[in-house]
Amino acid sequence: MNPTPALRVTGLSKRFRQVSAINQVYLDVPHGSIVSLIGPSGCGKSTLLRCMTWLEPPDEGFVEINGTPFGRQLEGEIIRHQSRRQIDRLRPRLGLVFQQFNLWPHLSLRDNIVKAQRVVLGRGRDEAHGRAERLMAQFALTAAADRHPWQLSGGQKQRAAIARALAMDPEVMLFDEPTSALDPELVGEVQTLLRSLAQNGMTMLIVTHDIRFAVNVSERIAFMCDGSIIEEGPVDRVVSSPRDARLQQFLALTFASGHVNPATKE
Ligand SMILES: Nc1ncnc2c1ncn2[C@@H]1O[C@H](COP(=O)(O)OP(=O)(O)OP(=O)(O)O)[C@@H](O)[C@H]1O
Ligand SMILES: [Mg+2]
Repeated sequence: MNPTPALRVTGLSKRFRQVSAINQVYLDVPHGSIVSLIGPSGCGKSTLLRCMTWLEPPDEGFVEINGTPFGRQLEGEIIRHQSRRQIDRLRPRLGLVFQQFNLWPHLSLRDNIVKAQRVVLGRGRDEAHGRAERLMAQFALTAAADRHPWQLSGGQKQRAAIARALAMDPEVMLFDEPTSALDPELVGEVQTLLRSLAQNGMTMLIVTHDIRFAVNVSERIAFMCDGSIIEEGPVDRVVSSPRDARLQQFLALTFASGHVNPATKE
């Protein structure tokens, strides 16, 4: 067991004018695990992912990737801010898959997977293409390689976005609502894909409003409310005996809507 978590967030906070979007967030994502982050709309989940990846620099707090400080670090009692260049160099260690996939619309699927490797990692043409071809084969995308994003199905776009992130060899994958843009029949497909990534040792943090999905794919659940993570633990414990009243209410509402049966893992 590796005692250093793959991702550690310590006291992360971010305000937008009067709105405190995230407030003193603490979270560890253990190496090789899948953690789901759930919580009501507007509670700060997407902001947390953007702050962790320094796309939105947090006002306060620290991020560490496998023990390496990212963005800012404590040196004794002094907070040292990393340069933009240093941040850009470390960022690929986190792979972020956005809700709307954010594929480049003017590039083919293949070039979407090739380009970031070339530009960000400075990989040679052959290496970047080789990696792209292998990932496309793995994700059943080879036949669609020359199509542009608008010519792809929802499931293909989702797989393409995951393949593009994986091509960067990240240490942790972060997903913002990986199923919300998909038809229900594709949700199972994403579930299988994420599980197979986990079997290969990938560490993942998944933001989802779909508790059934969270129960099916993850080992741990973190519940966020009003900008803070107020409960975190193994899936079964969190779902069957939630401690915080706000989590109890959130789960009760979800179960009342007929959305999920907490006892069933598929
Ligand atoms: N760029 C911004 N400028 C101002 N306010 C923002 C900005 N981004 C987020 N917020 C606010 O921060 C809060 C958290 O938003 P965030 O998008 O992180 O929530 P969320 O949990 O991802 O919600 P959802 O489940 O609906 O996606 C909200 O009140 C939102 O309006
Ligand atoms: Mg969001």
